[in-house]
Amino acid sequence: MNHDESRDLYDRALSVMPGGVNSAVRAAVEPYPFFVERGDGGYVIDADGNRYIDWVMGLGPLLYGHDLPQPVGSAVQSRVSEGPMFGAPTEIEVEHAEFVARHVPSVEMIRFVNSGTEATVSACRLARAATGRDKIVVMQGGYHGAQETTLVEGEYEHVEPSSPGIPDSFVEHTIAVPFNDADAAKRVFADHGDDVAGVLVEPILANVGIVAPVEGYHETLEDLCDEHGSLLVFDEVITGFRVGGLQCAQGEFGIDPDVTTFGKLIGGGFPVGAIGGSAELIEQFTPSGDVFQAGTFSGHPVTMAAGLESLKYAAEHDVHEHVHDLGERLRSGLADIVADQAPEYTVAGTDGMFKVLFSRGAPETVEDRCEAGCRQRESCSRYGHCPKNAADVKAGRTRVAVRHLRPHRRGRRRDAGSVQESTVALIMAVEKGYFSVPRETELGEIADVVGRKTRLILPSFCTVRRFPGWPTPDSSSTTRGVKQPDTLIRSIVTFYRYFADRSDEIRK
Ligand SMILES: Cc1ncc(COP(=O)(O)O)c(C=O)c1O
Repeated sequence: MNHDESRDLYDRALSVMPGGVNSAVRAAVEPYPFFVERGDGGYVIDADGNRYIDWVMGLGPLLYGHDLPQPVGSAVQSRVSEGPMFGAPTEIEVEHAEFVARHVPSVEMIRFVNSGTEATVSACRLARAATGRDKIVVMQGGYHGAQETTLVEGEYEHVEPSSPGIPDSFVEHTIAVPFNDADAAKRVFADHGDDVAGVLVEPILANVGIVAPVEGYHETLEDLCDEHGSLLVFDEVITGFRVGGLQCAQGEFGIDPDVTTFGKLIGGGFPVGAIGGSAELIEQFTPSGDVFQAGTFSGHPVTMAAGLESLKYAAEHDVHEHVHDLGERLRSGLADIVADQAPEYTVAGTDGMFKVLFSRGAPETVEDRCEAGCRQRESCSRYGHCPKNAADVKAGRTRVAVRHLRPHRRGRRRDAGSVQESTVALIMAVEKGYFSVPRETELGEIADVVGRKTRLILPSFCTVRRFPGWPTPDSSSTTRGVKQPDTLIRSIVTFYRYFADRSDEIRK
C-alpha cells in the first residue's frame, strides 16, 4: 500500500496545524494519519487512492455511511442553494425541534448549538443556574467534550484538571465517581447533597468500554437527584438516535433525565450539538431566561436539514432496526468466538456499537452469557469478570495483540491494546463466516481504520450473512486468540482475495 501522498500532506500539516490535525484523535493512526479524499458508501478513499472499510462513521455522526439517502442529499443541496446562513431564524429549525420533542420522551424544548462540547458546557451552566449550586458529578472515564468542568482525572473530590490551562479552582467543583457504583453516588449526595447542581452521565459509558449500566444504576441517580433537587443530565452525544432508535437511550432505559445533551447524529453529519429538556428548564436560556447562551452558527439551516431529513428517513425506513440487527448478529458471532477460544474477552455494545474487551479473568462457564453484547446482567455467568466501570476497562487492557500484530508499536505510550483486540476479533469473525467484508484488503488497513477510535460503529449497510460458496475456513488457520498472527493474516487475505473476485455478486 502506498502512503506517499498522506505522508507528504502530514508533513505539510505538521508545520501549520498542531500535531498536523484539527482534533487530537485524528492523529491516533500511526505512524501518520491517512488523509481522506472522499467517501464511498461504507468505504473511505485516501489521498493515495487506498480504499478502507470505514468502521468509524465520522466518529459517530453518520448513520448511512458516505452515500446519503436521496431525500437527505436533496434537502442538503437545496438548503445550500438558498444561501449558506442568515443569522435569523428559519422554519427548518422549528421543524427539527418539533421532531426531536415528538420522539425523545424527556424533551419538550431544545436549543441547538454547534458541537457536543458546546452542549455540555451549556448544560452545566444551566444546571448551576437552575439550582444555584456549583458542583457537577461526573463518571470516571466519561467524556463530555473539551470543556473545563469535565476534563478532570482522579477520584471523588481529589480530582485534577486533565489538561494544562484549566485552573485548579475550576475543578474544585467537579466530583468524579465510578460508573455503576450506586454506593459511591449515594456517598456524594450524603456528603454534598445540598451543593450538587447536577449529575452528568453518558447513559452507556461509550468513550471507555463500551460499558452498559447495571440494573437500577440510572434509577438510583434519578432518585438521588430528585431527592436533593439536583438535575440529572444525560449526555446522549453518542447514544442519541443511535441507541434505542428515535427515543434514544433514555427511552430504552425508561429514564427521564432533566436535561439531555445531543450531538453527532442529530446533525446528520454536519457540526451540531443541542440541549433538550422540559420547557421550564430550557426556557431559562436567553432570551426567554437569563442563562446566557448564544452562537452565530447555532441552528445552521444546512445542519438542520441534514439532521432532520436523516432522522425522518430513519423513522420511515426502519433504519435503526436494521442497524440493530446487524449489530446483534456481529456481536453474537464475536461472543461465540470468544466463548470458544478466548473466554477472557467480553463482547460489549448494543445497537450499532461494538467492542471486544479483555477482562483479564475468564469465567468457569460462559453459559447464559449476554449473547449479543455485554449487558451487565447479574445473572450472566461472566458478570463477576466483565468490566463495569472505567477502572475495570483500563485494568483489563492488554498489549498482547499489539505486540504480536504491530511490533513497531512496542513500547509506545499509547495503550492501543483494546483497539487491536477488537480488530483481531473482527478478523476472526470474518474467518468464521459471521461477518463479511466484501473487498480485498489487508489486515493493516482494517487495523488502521479501527485503530482511529476505540469505539466501533456499524454503518447501516454492512452485510452480515454467509454467502453461498464461501470457502470453509481451514481449521489450522483458526487460532486461539492472537497466538499465530501470521496464519490469521494469511487466512484473512485469502478470504478477501476470494471476495474481491466476487465483489459484484457479494454487494447485492
Ligand atoms: C459523550 C460525549 N459528549 C460530548 C462530546 C463532545 O462532542 P464534540 O466533539 O462534538 O464537541 C463527545 C465527543 O465525542 C462525546 O462522546
